[in-house]
Amino acid sequence: MRIDLIPQPVYLEYREGFFQSTGLPGIGGDEVFQGEMALAAEQLHRDLGLPPGPPGKGGVVCRELPPLREGEQGKEAYRLTVTGGGITLEASAGAGIYHGLQTLRQLILSGYEDNTLTIPCLTITDYPRFSWRGCMLDVSRHFYTPSFIKKLLDVLSLHHINVFHWHLTDDQGWRFPVAAYPELIEIGSKRRDTRNPREPQVKQFYTPVEIRELVAYAEARHIMVVPEVDLPGHTKAVLAAYPDLGCTGGPYEVDDRHGIFSDVLCAGNDRIFDLVGAVFDTLAELFPAPYVHIGGDEVPVSRWEACPKCRRRLAELGFERARQLQAWLTVRFAQMLKSRSKIPLGWDEVLEDTEQLGLPEELVVMSWRGQEGGLKASAAGHRVVMAPSSDGCYLDYRHYDLPEEPGLGSRITRVYDAYMTNPVLPEMTAGEAALVLGGQGNLWSELLYADRWAEYMLFPRICALAETFWSPRESKDFASFARRLPVHQKRLDILNILSYRGPLQ
Ligand code: ACM
Ligand code: ZN
Repeated sequence: MRIDLIPQPVYLEYREGFFQSTGLPGIGGDEVFQGEMALAAEQLHRDLGLPPGPPGKGGVVCRELPPLREGEQGKEAYRLTVTGGGITLEASAGAGIYHGLQTLRQLILSGYEDNTLTIPCLTITDYPRFSWRGCMLDVSRHFYTPSFIKKLLDVLSLHHINVFHWHLTDDQGWRFPVAAYPELIEIGSKRRDTRNPREPQVKQFYTPVEIRELVAYAEARHIMVVPEVDLPGHTKAVLAAYPDLGCTGGPYEVDDRHGIFSDVLCAGNDRIFDLVGAVFDTLAELFPAPYVHIGGDEVPVSRWEACPKCRRRLAELGFERARQLQAWLTVRFAQMLKSRSKIPLGWDEVLEDTEQLGLPEELVVMSWRGQEGGLKASAAGHRVVMAPSSDGCYLDYRHYDLPEEPGLGSRITRVYDAYMTNPVLPEMTAGEAALVLGGQGNLWSELLYADRWAEYMLFPRICALAETFWSPRESKDFASFARRLPVHQKRLDILNILSYRGPLQ
């Protein structure tokens, strides 16, 4: 009997015999893990339609033990022992217990049949390769409901994904309220929808109550929620709401098309900092994570070059190129976040034209146009998250080169490409490699008009990425992943997740 886990655990040793139970075993153990144990019982009840039995003899026992490893890896590490007489899960922290319970959940989802659970006797010792194992969801181009996001967070955590990067704003919609700037919602969260021209324009945003609830839901699953506000480009929703913050003064509209638009925040207008400050205050209040993503991608400078206010700013700062204004804004935004005890993250464009000003060292760079951004950033001493569109991390691209496959543009991310991505490059020194926090898969939603489509694009590529970010480099084996995948996809079926099943490679 094979167990076909994804991600593949670090150490897995089979022993003689099986654990068997009629119905589902109870889950009990040390009081400190009460939250994780209750949640796992609730997940299994929902997944399989029956509650686990009472905790006790012959069931699952969760025990606190000294760390198996040092540091963050130690907090996430766990040991799972399955014997004929019961199942023991040991970890030093709630995160480790939660990951262990998710591994057990996988074993139960595939081992439960005809009211009987069968799991081979084994010992698993497991911990992550990287501390940042992320998934980004764009909720601007398409608005996903809180209930869908919960479904997603739950299944992501089944794969030990531990970062949810929430792309909350873009040209096509602003998705959370900022008290002093009500038009961000009144105007910025609505748009004409040419896909559904008869649909009334409605405000689509998350209330503070919904945001707090999602953050708590993620936290219970040991997922950190990192909010992104994309600045200073991809801001047509802001400009539609507050046109005097653009270089031309507008009028602007929340865009229904997609692409890169020349209208961006006016770098010569100090009032943009009032708005950004209020936005950062709101994020600091709603999100406990230490990070805030400030975007920085795809910022055309044509408006800045023509704008008298921007030209005046350029002259005052002694800059030669309009692009340097972006570096100046990045530094300002980073300072504003620092005063709110937050660490900034930016897309790799933030590295450009920074020779004169430099960049604050705490800024974390997300490498998306390729891997070069990650290389350059780590060489400059920045921590890095790898999400290269060229190397398996863009999940809005088609799964395969077939005309019927949905996806943005002509580019392809095969399951194989997602599996083979490697956040650490051979060119990196050991010191640079140590700055790589991990990686993530990005789901942009220009074409993903429904939950089902989002699922189809995510799965199973996010499973492949999850294994890359969790399992040791030495155990990377695509043939093994491909062999395990059909069993894993049956688990996803039970969780009502639509998964692509075409060619992998
Ligand atoms: C991006 O894909 N524009 C970060
Ligand atoms: Zn301007």
